[in-house]
Amino acid sequence: MSTPHNNAKKGDIAETVLMPGDPLRAKFIAENYLENPVCYNEVRGMLGFTGTYKGKRISVQGSGMGMPSIGIYSWELFNEYDVKNIIRVGTAGAIADNVNLRDIIIGLSASTNSNFASQYRLPGTYAPTASWDLIDAAVMVAQERDCPFHVGNILSSDTFYDDAASLADWKKMGVLGIEMEAAALYMNAARAGKNALCILTVSDCPLKGLSTSAEERQTSFRNMMEIALDAAVLLP
Ligand code: HPA
Repeated sequence: MSTPHNNAKKGDIAETVLMPGDPLRAKFIAENYLENPVCYNEVRGMLGFTGTYKGKRISVQGSGMGMPSIGIYSWELFNEYDVKNIIRVGTAGAIADNVNLRDIIIGLSASTNSNFASQYRLPGTYAPTASWDLIDAAVMVAQERDCPFHVGNILSSDTFYDDAASLADWKKMGVLGIEMEAAALYMNAARAGKNALCILTVSDCPLKGLSTSAEERQTSFRNMMEIALDAAVLLP
C-alpha cells in the first residue's frame, strides 16, 4: 500500500513520528539520532526514515512548509499508516515580549488565519489544541534541561510575507510565536482521534528585527530535537 505522496508500506512507519518542515532536517535527525535508520519515502523528496532511539521505534519525516503541505502528510500518516503521535519540530518567530531568540515554545494551542477548519462545517470557531499526553511528556523533559521554554498559544499563519503586518494584534491576545503548520496538524489529529504536538525553537523576532545565525540555529535545534525525542520515548 502507498499513497500519492508516500510510498512507504504499511508497517514501515513507527507509531510516533517527528516532523521537521525540511526533509533534509529529517535526514539529519535520522543520521545523527536514530540507530539503524531506514529510508521509507523519497516521493517529492519528502524523506522519511524509521529507526530506534533509546530502544524505541521512531520515524522522522519532512512535512514541507505551510498548512496544505503538513495537512497532506499528517493526514496520510494518521489515517493510512496507523501513526498515533506526531510531534512537529520547527522554527518560530517570537511574538510575545518575554520570548527570546533560541527559546523553546511548546504549542499548547494554535490560533490561525487559515481556512483549514471550514472543511469540518462547525457552527462556530474551533480551537486547535495539542494532546495533553504529549504536552505533559515534553514539559517534563524540558524542565530537566537548561533551556528557557514557554508553553502556550502559537499562531499558524498562511503567510510568511504578510502585507497586513498583524503581529501586534496577535500579541495583544497573548500569542507567543508565529509558525505555519501546527493548527492543521492539531486539527488532523483531532479528527483522526490521534495525538499531536508542535515544539518550536525561536529563530527570529520579527517585531524586534532580530534573527539567529545559522550556527545558533543548529544548537537550539538540537535542544528542541532532544526534547521531542526524549518526550517520544516517554509515550505509552
Ligand atoms: N513567520 C512565519 N513562520 C516563521 C517565522 C515567521 O516570522 N519565523 C520562523 N517561522
